[in-house]
Amino acid sequence: MNNQDKIKNLIERRVQAKMGGGEKRIAAQHEKGKLTARERIELLLDEGSFEEYDMFITHRCDNFGIEKNKPLGDGVVTGQGTIDGRVVYVFAQDFTVFGGSLSETFAQKICKVMDMALKVGAPVIGINDSGGARIQEGVTALAGYAEIFERNIMASGVIPQISAIFGPCAGGAVYSPALTDFIVMSKDTSYMFLTGPKVVKTVTGEVVTDEQLGGASVHGSKSGVSHFIAEDEREGILLIRKLLSYLPQNNLEDAPLAECDDPIDRLDDFLNEIIPDNPNKPYDVKDVIHSIVDYNEFLEVQRNFAPNIITGFAHFNGISTGIVANQPNYLAGVLDINASRKAARFVRFCDAFNIPIVTLVDVPGFLPGTAQEYGAIISHGAKLLFAYGEATVPKVTVILRKSYGGAYCVMSSKHLRGDINYSWPTGEIAVMGPKGAIEVLQHKNIKSIENEEERSKFITEAEDEYKDKFANPYVAAQYGYIDDVIEPRNTRFRVIRALQALATKKDTMPPKKHTNIPL
Ligand code: HXC
Repeated sequence: MNNQDKIKNLIERRVQAKMGGGEKRIAAQHEKGKLTARERIELLLDEGSFEEYDMFITHRCDNFGIEKNKPLGDGVVTGQGTIDGRVVYVFAQDFTVFGGSLSETFAQKICKVMDMALKVGAPVIGINDSGGARIQEGVTALAGYAEIFERNIMASGVIPQISAIFGPCAGGAVYSPALTDFIVMSKDTSYMFLTGPKVVKTVTGEVVTDEQLGGASVHGSKSGVSHFIAEDEREGILLIRKLLSYLPQNNLEDAPLAECDDPIDRLDDFLNEIIPDNPNKPYDVKDVIHSIVDYNEFLEVQRNFAPNIITGFAHFNGISTGIVANQPNYLAGVLDINASRKAARFVRFCDAFNIPIVTLVDVPGFLPGTAQEYGAIISHGAKLLFAYGEATVPKVTVILRKSYGGAYCVMSSKHLRGDINYSWPTGEIAVMGPKGAIEVLQHKNIKSIENEEERSKFITEAEDEYKDKFANPYVAAQYGYIDDVIEPRNTRFRVIRALQALATKKDTMPPKKHTNIPL
């Protein structure tokens, strides 16, 4: 072969590698409404920025006739590129090659990009579309998964890791995405489960479809495994690009400062009227969020899971910020097991990656009852308490209305190293709401009044007295637990001022191997 032939041969190999499992399988992938691994990478990265690695790797398995078929690249496309000019590492499983199943060499390729990402300090994005461990390989495939898991764990809290699920994700394969920071699923074409419907039927007799067992709606709203649900893959990929714009490259950097022409002193009179006079009437806290952040833009995380607490990213005068807010519009914004898990993980992510946290509080307390107690609300609620208490990033809190009981302590209070704690004049900070408090404090007196009218008058007066005493932020302000009572319409300005002042904040933890958060 002369040199020109060698170059021709290289080009032919590249063309062959890019065909993955061949035209027929690519067409089948498209018919299912799915893109190929390469099409996904092309959409994800800045145009022309992709540098591919290990295109010529082939598997080393000799079992079940698979040795006669050694596609170049072995079913996963890996490499590096840029998103908005910033370096990222990617891998995309190619379902057209052995159903995207993971072999020893397939895993080796993924491990290589993960190792490089960790060295360089850049995010890793994994696009999953796979039948799991390559059955013909056996233990080497399992070992490959475990090698990936170990790297997911080492990279956790060092570089952002994002998983897209754009097809099946079965068996132990779900554990790599589960170890990453964010999971994006596409509607109707993706599912995740440890054991598929057939095994479920054999073991438990339960009959379910793929979608019912582990579809996007299940993980987006019931289990909370998934953080974002996209209408389709294209939307999912755009979402990943957007998400990255709020994140730093690694834990030693700050997130990029976004450009901002939205005036910091923009007043919103509507906020002065948003809290209803009736304390039992809900309102949508997302209206508050949209009003105070730059350009009203908010990227919500886990929108349909535990909607009684809202989590997501926004900018305040360009500063990337994590927002946690109780949602009075759903279950009165109560803290339950799922809300605690959701918010705790979000707070810990922000803290790991130097993203300040703004907390908007309107919470009647923790949800009482056997379902919650048997489900270990004590441990799950403690996660949120722990997450706020250990977080050293700037923490700005605004109490909008209720801040009752344990939930007062948990929601980024001054006592958990909250940096700046504001309240609106509508803030109510107490051990519990007036109704419950009077029932406990006055139950003997209430019982002793026989006349119903008189009893009701007594209760109303007692509740009014309690409200006068506690249904305001000034008692807390008197103790310095609230730094200032602010006019609602001025919230954006006050939060931005606080975040700007806290930009150089340094706080530390005592030396330790790691914490022992109540898992
Ligand atoms: C080898 C596989 C494969 C696998 C699919 N294929 N999964 N080859 N190992 N795990 C092959 C199929 O044989 C087929 O090849 C091609 O990929 C496309 O698969 P289809 O079944 O035709 O596609 P579809 O009908 O869309 O079904 C996709 C699927 C199904 C739902 C993923 O293939 C499936 O159930 N696969 C097995 C899933 C599974 O149980 N994996 C093991 C999990 S345990 P041909 O040549 O016939 O077209 C695991 C352990 C990890 O992963 C442990 C980590 C701790």
